[in-house]
Amino acid sequence: MIEIIYVSRASQRFKDNELSNMLKVFRKNNQSKNISGLLLYNGSGTFIQALEGDEHVVSSLYETIRRDPRHSRVNLLGKEEISERKFPDWRMGFQNISKLSLAEQEGFSDFMLHAKPLDFLTAEPSFAVDMLEYFKQSTNLDLDKD
Ligand SMILES: Cc1cc2nc3c(=O)[nH]c(=O)nc-3n(C[C@H](O)[C@H](O)[C@H](O)COP(=O)(O)O)c2cc1C
Repeated sequence: MIEIIYVSRASQRFKDNELSNMLKVFRKNNQSKNISGLLLYNGSGTFIQALEGDEHVVSSLYETIRRDPRHSRVNLLGKEEISERKFPDWRMGFQNISKLSLAEQEGFSDFMLHAKPLDFLTAEPSFAVDMLEYFKQSTNLDLDKD
């Protein structure tokens, strides 16, 4: 199995219902491909996504995602072999970080307040990894129940 982590720039400011409709499709697809992962959105311009599953399945989905016009500047931060899933419970967990209270956002202020969040994450990939790790444990996470 492999895990891929990338960041990208959203092509528009997505509304809650648009995101939830997108997630329905992603989760249905991911279930059939045995893919799990987590998607973070900062409310305006940036996506961070972890995808995990069989190598050829994840690589092929990543190629599709890369060409998706709903975002651009898709930038691979990491690709590694894994023996265990980090997000076994999520066909695609989701968190809109801008919906968190300001206190909760505090820990991500470097990212949230950065003028160029995508450049920041590309320069500091470990920050993206830490955020994914944090939200894995967060009780706020959209629990992927539908
Ligand atoms: C930020 C972002 C994340 C995405 N994540 C997934 C995903 O986890 N699973 C998935 O199947 N498609 C995902 N997509 C959508 C794919 O690019 C593509 O539209 C979809 O896989 C095609 O599904 P379809 O063949 O059922 O139309 C994502 C798109 C974007 C913009």
